[in-house]
Amino acid sequence: MSRPAVCVIISLLIILDHSDGIQTDMGPCAEMVMQAAERLVTLGKERANKTADDELKRQMESACEILDLSSSDLYIASQRVTASASKENKSRVITASKNVLQGTMKVLLVSDDYEVRRILAAAHTVSEAVGLLSHVDNMTDLLSRFKSFTDTTSILTSLANKRQKDLCQDRQREKIITALNLLKKSIPSISVALQSCIKYPSNAQAHVSKSYVINQVLSAVRDIVEAIENKFTEEDYLDVEEPGYFVSKIDQ
Ligand SMILES: *[C@@H]1O[C@H](CO)[C@@H](O)[C@H](O)[C@H]1NC(C)=O
Ligand SMILES: *[C@@H]1O[C@H](CO)[C@@H](O)[C@H](O)[C@H]1NC(C)=O
Ligand SMILES: *[C@@H]1O[C@H](CO)[C@@H](O)[C@H](O)[C@H]1NC(C)=O
Repeated sequence: MSRPAVCVIISLLIILDHSDGIQTDMGPCAEMVMQAAERLVTLGKERANKTADDELKRQMESACEILDLSSSDLYIASQRVTASASKENKSRVITASKNVLQGTMKVLLVSDDYEVRRILAAAHTVSEAVGLLSHVDNMTDLLSRFKSFTDTTSILTSLANKRQKDLCQDRQREKIITALNLLKKSIPSISVALQSCIKYPSNAQAHVSKSYVINQVLSAVRDIVEAIENKFTEEDYLDVEEPGYFVSKIDQ
């Protein structure tokens, strides 16, 4: 959410961090941090207000409060250091900057956790719908359960696809894209396989095909869940060491 606002905060914090001895620059810079933080807080509060998800609401309100307080602290600290650039007053600015950064990250992480939870819940719903499909033995049931399967799958597909675009890890993205393609391809096959099973209930081959395609769907859903849950791997930590990684990640 609101990556530009976050970028402004982080760039300004970097400037503040390097403005040792140029205290005259601190006031305007801290004021801009405050304004950017306020924008992020406003967006976060709107999000908390609109959502029906109690956990998102609670966590977002708390994260916004932390960010709000820390950005006011930073502003006060920067005014103090402008008046008297003692070691103690400088170190307050540094502490306050770190708190603003933490508050900013907290708001982002709350938003991120929520996206992840939504995808995991959608994946669970798809698995349940597939489970129900595997037990149908008449056309009426097949039609209604197939519809709920395709409806839930389309929700999962759109959430996972959006997520995939936000990810920086190519390996994770590829895993999601591959699984989504498999899921898409399975939809007509699952319909054909189920219809054959209903028409020819004693045909062993029809049941083999049905199990095969159902397992394919379940495995695709598992791959999506794995890729979404597996947020940080060793590779991610290595990448973080690359200069500019952090800002480029946020700036996407
Ligand atoms: C939430 O938004 C509505 C209008 O959209 C507003 O009336 C209400 O006061 C807001 N609540 C909070 C807690 O901000
Ligand atoms: C910090 O700055 C304030 C000015 O706002 C000043 O009154 C105070 O004495 C300073 N503290 C130190 C330790 O220099
Ligand atoms: C279809 O099967 C379900 C049980 O799976 C049963 O409750 C329902 O009555 C059946 N419908 C028809 C039209 O046979």
